[in-house]
Amino acid sequence: MLRKLIAGNWKMNGLRHSLDQVSSLMQKVGKAPKADILICPPALLLMEMARMTKDSPIMVGGQDCHWKESGAHTGEISAQMLANAGASHVIVGHSERRADCGENSKTVRHKAEAALAAGLIPIICVGETLAQREAGEAASVVRDQVEQSMPTQSKGEIVIAYEPVWAIGTGKVASAADIAEIHALLREQVGPGIRLLYGGSVKLGNAAEILHIENVDGALVGGASLTAEDFFGIIENA
Ligand code: PGA
Repeated sequence: MLRKLIAGNWKMNGLRHSLDQVSSLMQKVGKAPKADILICPPALLLMEMARMTKDSPIMVGGQDCHWKESGAHTGEISAQMLANAGASHVIVGHSERRADCGENSKTVRHKAEAALAAGLIPIICVGETLAQREAGEAASVVRDQVEQSMPTQSKGEIVIAYEPVWAIGTGKVASAADIAEIHALLREQVGPGIRLLYGGSVKLGNAAEILHIENVDGALVGGASLTAEDFFGIIENA
């Protein structure tokens, strides 16, 4: 069994005072937490968070990166910059970026490759929309996204997050059977060594059930990662 990874995605939430939540989380988790712990804050908080957590088991990551190393790309952040700021991971292909910023799986693959080249672990997000699920296409959509988003040649650890789009931030969670089905297919597709996270309205009340489904190696948590108490509760269920 792979050690579980509980990753928090703060999205566009968090000001300087939000770092208090990290201090509080550090106290709660101590030195030997039950799972690997990652927080992906807004980029502006990353360096300070990395400094704060340097001697704790909490890792920090980016929420996105550009596929190029450097250059004329106003407003963008490279994987190398994230690594340089103290990140260990970076989320790529989150459905909000696929939807809001027109990212497709090819872009996501380039970003994942850039992450690996910079020594980061990419967390590649995939997931179907409600319309796709209702049309019976969930499995094929997810399979195609993984196939097209996975780096082809570069080596290094990769994490995949299955996040049904309709379950993100909606309070709706996929059923245990649906999660088990997609994760089994993903396991078959990518093999035994890659951690498969579930994401989409994971919270204290459902974490225990979700984290014990076969082939679920952790969670990508949005809303419930913003407060130390809730996030710690989820970690305790790993
Ligand atoms: P949520 O977000 O937990 O708020 O649904 C999950 C995600 O988008 O990673």
